[in-house]
This record gives sequence, C-alpha cells and structure tokens, in this order.
Amino acid sequence: MASVATTQVFKQDIFAGKVLLCTGGGSGICRGMTEAMVRHGAKAVIVSRSKDKLEQAAREMSQATGGEIIAVAGDVRKPADVENAVKQTVERFGRIDFLINGAAGNFLAPFQNLSYNAFRTVIEIDLLGTFNMTKAAVEHIKQAKGAIINVSATLYYTGTPYQQHAGSAKAAIDALTKHWAVELGPHGVRVNGIAPGPIGNTVGMDKLGLGFEVESIPMQRMGDVQDIAQSTVFLFSEGANWITGVTLVVDGGQWMNPNYIAYPAMVLTPPQGKL
Ligand code: COA
Repeated sequence: MASVATTQVFKQDIFAGKVLLCTGGGSGICRGMTEAMVRHGAKAVIVSRSKDKLEQAAREMSQATGGEIIAVAGDVRKPADVENAVKQTVERFGRIDFLINGAAGNFLAPFQNLSYNAFRTVIEIDLLGTFNMTKAAVEHIKQAKGAIINVSATLYYTGTPYQQHAGSAKAAIDALTKHWAVELGPHGVRVNGIAPGPIGNTVGMDKLGLGFEVESIPMQRMGDVQDIAQSTVFLFSEGANWITGVTLVVDGGQWMNPNYIAYPAMVLTPPQGKL
C-alpha cells in the first residue's frame, strides 16, 4: 500500500503522547487513518482478525513512520477479544486517547441472495463490533478526555441497491455517534463519524465498485486514502474541539449523484449467485 505522507497542513507533533486504538487498522482506509495519526506523533494499536496480516501491517507502518504501532489480533464481535485489545493497549502505552471503529465486512448482495446469516454477520461485525469496542474502551477514553471516530458510509442516504446489510448497520452506527456525543460530551469526550466515498486501490472498492463510474463524482476523481487520513487528523485535532455528534461525509460529493446507470434492471433482474 502507498505510504500516507500526511500532512503539510497540520503540525507534525500534534498527537505526541497520545494513544490511538484502531479496529480494522491492518488494511485499507483504516490503515491510512492509523498511519496518519502516527506520523503526527501518536502511538497506535491495530486490531483485526487476521494475525499475520496485522503484524505485517504494524511492522511496515512502524518502518515507514519511525513510530510505535503494535498489533493485537481479535474479532470485534467477541467481548473477550475487545477487552483483551484494551488491556494490551493500556499495559503497553498506559492510556487510550483516541478510538477508531473501522472494522467492517461487506459484499454486494441482491435481497434474494442475502441469507439470514449473511445479514446478521455484517450487523455483528459493523454495529455490534463498534458497540463492543467502545464499551470496552470508554472509561479510558473518558479519563484521557479523548475522542472517537466511527467509520460510516453514505449507502443508506439513497437506499443503495445490494447494500441493505451494510447500509442499515451504518445507519445504526450514525445513531450511536449521536447518542455517545450527548452522553460522553460532559466527560470531555467528542464522538464523530467519517463516511468515506469510493476510495481507489482498496478492497472495498474492488468488492463494491460494480458499475461505478468516476464521472458520477462531482469532484471528478476517485478518493484517496489520504483524503480520509486528513479528515481523521482534523477531527481528532484541537481544530475540531467543538465538533461532536457529526458524521463527516468525505466523498467529493458522490452520494448526492449516485447515478446508477443500470437501475432499475439491476433490481428487476439481478444476477444470480454471489457477486
Ligand atoms: N454474497 C452473499 N452472501 C455472502 C457473500 C456474498 N458475496 N459473502 C459472504 N456471504 C454470506 C456467507 O455465505 C454466509 O452466509 P451463509 O452461512 O448463509 O452461507 C455469511 O455471509 C457469513 O459469511 P462467512 O464467510 O461465514 O463470515 P465471516 O465472518 O467469515 O466473513 C464477511 C465476513 C462475509 C463480511 C467477509 O466478507 C469478510 O470477512 N470481510 C472482511 C473484509 C471486508 O469485507 N471488508 C470490507 C470491505 S468494504
């Protein structure tokens, strides 16, 4: 993955002494978010299921940034795993200032191809995973007067076909962002979301980009991991210290012009089998 050379816009050391815990930080957008935070001085712990991939990502990011990043394998669906991730973070770094809830699963599935278990699996990873990790870490974040970013999506704004499982999980995650902003605000904790648009060279784009045309994006280019990394640094920075309960859409305007070229054929005669 290309290195995230974040960012000329923010001071280099703004997160010195701070600690980030990031689920899904071993790949894609969340890896870029983590790397950006480390480049600005934070120490980081990344969590996901795939131990080997995660450890390799931590090694590569440490080499690229000169910062401290450790990998803790775990499944966000399992309370024991998220509690272990919090324990390891505090044992190693002594505190948790920032949490990114990024672990997610998704695939395209027309309604009739979406099994009971498939729907439940995505809700469990995305929604319950977000709840579980935050529940396990929240007392530490309160102590640090830190901040949380929930990774969301714009899918449900327009009822995107084949995406009801992820869309409904993200809608509920946006609700959590608001509930937590209200409940944690008096403790000095800010809670926001980021809803990325189509980001090039990611697994998400490879899996979900069916029929997508870059010309449908008002800003006329694909997103880059760097776009999400910059927004992350901003939302965790002092520059955003009166912003809470907001899900920031970072998509070049894409959701306002979904432009489904194949609609309605794609819902009336959907492809059979797994996409
Ligand atoms: N279309 C329809 N159903 C699918 C599917 C697809 N492309 N991929 C998986 N499923 C179904 C499975 O068939 C299964 O349902 P079943 O038991 O009724 O057959 C259910 O989803 C769970 O799949 P399983 O592979 O057992 O779950 P998992 O926990 O190992 O994997 C996924 C979770 C399915 C979300 C998997 O894609 C994943 O781990 N993704 C992580 C990476 C990722 O997707 N990141 C997000 C990029 S945007």
